[in-house]
Amino acid sequence: MLFHRLVFASIFIASCLTRLADGATLEGDEVEALRSIGETLGKTDWKFDDTDPCSGVGGWIDEPLSGDIVNNVTCDCTFNNNNTCHITHILLQAQNLSGTLPTDLASLPFLQEIDLSRNYLSGNIPTQWGSASRLVRIALLGNRLTGAIPAALANLSSLTSLVLEANRLSGNLPQALGNLSKLEIL
Ligand SMILES: *[C@@H]1O[C@H](CO)[C@@H](O)[C@H](O)[C@H]1NC(C)=O
Ligand SMILES: *[C@@H]1O[C@H](CO)[C@@H](O)[C@H](O)[C@H]1NC(C)=O
Ligand SMILES: *[C@@H]1O[C@H](CO)[C@@H](O)[C@H](O)[C@H]1NC(C)=O
Ligand SMILES: *[C@@H]1O[C@H](CO)[C@@H](O)[C@H](O)[C@H]1NC(C)=O
Ligand SMILES: *[C@@H]1O[C@H](CO)[C@@H](O)[C@H](O)[C@H]1NC(C)=O
Repeated sequence: MLFHRLVFASIFIASCLTRLADGATLEGDEVEALRSIGETLGKTDWKFDDTDPCSGVGGWIDEPLSGDIVNNVTCDCTFNNNNTCHITHILLQAQNLSGTLPTDLASLPFLQEIDLSRNYLSGNIPTQWGSASRLVRIALLGNRLTGAIPAALANLSSLTSLVLEANRLSGNLPQALGNLSKLEIL
């Protein structure tokens, strides 16, 4: 009994020290945003209870098995003198995701890249993505997306790459996309 308590206490102390050493964590509102995004996408193996999404362990980043299979949530933890993290990359390629695209990307205000290539995602590209203003790269290649490409994406003035091929999209290319002066890949 005493032994068990000692073990338990050491684990507790060790995990407190680890947290002190790690320092920076993701703020609650971005954790909630990520939880909601995971539910919408059908990403069921994100573990919120055990590990901070910015820790780089516990299933938040895997070493890529191949160029096509990528499971990687990356943060920038240099904010507030290295005390605060913000999510910058969500790369979930070939993860068997069968949900839909989340509308609330703008609740991750520092998100630069979202890559959901080679999944089974369906539904439309949300108009709301037009307000995720720091996005530099969007890749949705190889899904089951339908509907038109929203003209609101022309709002993303930092966008350099927009990859939408191999879906079931329809309609015309919005003229406004021609205003994306940094776009290199479409
Ligand atoms: C995860 O993605 C980030 C951003 O693209 C990259 O810098 C990092 O090397 C990737 N990590 C792994 C393990 O692939
Ligand atoms: C933040 O951490 C980096 C890497 O450890 C370090 O080079 C930098 O000086 C730190 N910045 C501050 C403001 O503490
Ligand atoms: C996706 O599903 C296939 C078929 O069930 C399986 O072989 C593969 O490992 C799954 N991929 C991931 C990343 O879970
Ligand atoms: C365009 O971006 C601005 C500023 O980020 C935002 O307020 C607005 O809602 C966006 N418009 C659309 C159509 O997404
Ligand atoms: C492109 O941007 C200019 C300047 O902001 C604006 O006047 C014009 O309506 C835009 N074109 C399209 C097709 O949205």
